[in-house]
Amino acid sequence: MGETVHVTETLRDAWQGLPRVVPTADKIAFAQRLLDLGFRSIDIGSFVSPRAVPAMADTGDVVAALHVPEGARLTALVANEKGLERLLAAPGIDEVLFPFSLSDTFQRRNTRCSRDEAARTLDVVCRDATAAGRRVYATISMAFGNDEGDPWSPEEVADWTGRLFAIGVHEVGLADTTAQADPSRVAQVLGVVVATTGRMPSLHLHATARTQQALVDASLDAGCRAFDSALGGLGGCQFARGPESNVSTLALARRLVDRGFEVALPLDRLDELDSAARALAAGA
Ligand code: COA
Ligand code: ZN
Repeated sequence: MGETVHVTETLRDAWQGLPRVVPTADKIAFAQRLLDLGFRSIDIGSFVSPRAVPAMADTGDVVAALHVPEGARLTALVANEKGLERLLAAPGIDEVLFPFSLSDTFQRRNTRCSRDEAARTLDVVCRDATAAGRRVYATISMAFGNDEGDPWSPEEVADWTGRLFAIGVHEVGLADTTAQADPSRVAQVLGVVVATTGRMPSLHLHATARTQQALVDASLDAGCRAFDSALGGLGGCQFARGPESNVSTLALARRLVDRGFEVALPLDRLDELDSAARALAAGA
């Protein structure tokens, strides 16, 4: 048996910035279908300002309606303490995702605070979420560079990765928010982060259909064993610029199988689910 690679289906990133808001009942039906077919890790939504992200205002209702099988994990994003309170009041979410950004400019645009303020909020979120028995997953946006003109270096990524672990997060994900990475940069960043912190982060890559396989290969070669991806290759953050979308779950799974890795996904149903995800996004 090959090594297992952990794949999280990010319905949140797929749906949050669509021109069309996916109706609550359709979100519930689609997420339930994924859980019933064997998806074991889903980023289901967020508890942020409904004015900032109207498409995620119904996350609590979606979560409340789902039947989550034993062994499956739901994740949801919060950016402040109010969001965490709402998340903890919606039972069934095992993991809290907190968006930290290496670019101070993007942190301010995305969650209206500085990097240092975000780190202080994360400290509180971590303490309260952990006390409530939840895992905390912090992502570092713009971890492979930024288009804001803010400073970037692999050493700074490693420094913040270490600081987030020191705050108490259980996992750090490096997000290539505006698709700045190429395979050699992936290898370089992961190499420096692992050498400095002794921890391998998970990856939240944004790419095009043309670039994603080489990025995935470079990540696997560097030892990464956890990815976020989206069926239909949908999504991306609407507060960032750029047309690139999430890594496609279908393409990722095919590549993992080709390379001999195990993955807990219903491989024989991914074609159909990929089409269904795109139809749902388009309202077809
Ligand atoms: N849930 C619901 N409402 C919230 C909220 C939350 N977690 N946090 C703040 N609000 C509401 C406040 O109640 C307030 O409402 P009011 O104007 O009716 O009184 C309003 O939002 C502004 O609150 P404030 O604390 O001043 O927030 P802000 O304007 O500084 O914005 C965030 C901060 C984090 C709430 C906002 O930037 C946000 O929601 N960002 C979302 C980022 C995101 O999801 N990005 C995509 C994923 S990476
Ligand atoms: Zn993303």
